[in-house]
Amino acid sequence: MDHKVCGQDATHARIAELKKKFGADLVILGHHYQADEIIRHVDIVGDSLELARRIPDIEARNIVFCGVYFMAESAALLARPGQRVFLPDHGADCAMARMARAADVERVLERLSASGRKVLPLAYVNSSLAVKAVVGRFGGAVCTSSNAKTMLEWAMEQGDAVLFLPDRNLGRNTARVLGIAPEKQVLISASGNDLDRDEVRGAKLLLWPGCCPIHESLMKPDMVDAFHSHFPGCRVLVHPECTPDVVQRCDGAGSTAYLIKEVEKAAAEGREHTLCIGTEFHLVHRLMERYAGKLNIIPLAQASCADMEKVDAQKLLSTLEYLEEGAGTVTVEESLKAPARDAIVRMLERCR
Ligand code: 13P
Ligand code: SF4
Repeated sequence: MDHKVCGQDATHARIAELKKKFGADLVILGHHYQADEIIRHVDIVGDSLELARRIPDIEARNIVFCGVYFMAESAALLARPGQRVFLPDHGADCAMARMARAADVERVLERLSASGRKVLPLAYVNSSLAVKAVVGRFGGAVCTSSNAKTMLEWAMEQGDAVLFLPDRNLGRNTARVLGIAPEKQVLISASGNDLDRDEVRGAKLLLWPGCCPIHESLMKPDMVDAFHSHFPGCRVLVHPECTPDVVQRCDGAGSTAYLIKEVEKAAAEGREHTLCIGTEFHLVHRLMERYAGKLNIIPLAQASCADMEKVDAQKLLSTLEYLEEGAGTVTVEESLKAPARDAIVRMLERCR
């Protein structure tokens, strides 16, 4: 135990030393879902949208991105020429993003356009850059959990229907906010073999069969009910990657940034003492510690993202030790750059 603590201390001390050595040549970014052992070394912490927005203003030659692969890929796309983006573990790949393969998305979109209907794709940022490029080529855009409502509204105006991917839950939860009737929504298969069904032809919103296993499988409606009955009058707030039956029972749903803001507001206003938060556990745990004594924050579930956890202090240290050699850089295939950028720019223009 003592050896372990001693080893961890040495790791943290060496990271600090290397950060000092690289100075203005290095910026470390971290997603809110990263563990404390990473967050303590991070220069900029944010949700996926905030981090992507910060990239164009970064002047450092080296950007170390502590998060999952799709986030680092977007950073690499938005980085300046000559800048290098590193991900400490390339195996940290969002489980939801893996549920939509670019070849499948392309085949489905080709079949849909062959049917004569204009179906616009809208991709949640939790998708690979190759998927974003396909979406960009078909005239579609990207969205995040903060702007899904605005972007789905925009996409609905562009054609006969929208293909929302990969997250069926964010798709359904956003459709509900916009008043799109459940009978106008249909879940399709990734093979595209069921696109001839009448149900699909009449639908306004086609949903890809993807989800976040952490938010979908570990957060259940009865947990929300149990919390409400144990703490009458207290709010349960969740991320919209949770299933619609969870979201509908809650007192609020929104992006990582929304959840943090709601906690900050509750602490500042002293409105309530207990809040239940349904999202990734590392973030909830940090909020619990930050507001200890002011707010009683309870996680809806002990749900940590195994992919986010792959980036640890030891791997961050290895990345920094070999930074000069360029090991662990994230590169973007040349042919994907323009169409993926088109999909991202359509979002940025709409949500200026
Ligand atoms: P944010 O877009 O809120 O950062 O969420 C990313 C994510 O992976 C949620 O599970
Ligand atoms: Fe992907 Fe879910 Fe992990 Fe977010 S929490 S990175 S959606 S697997």
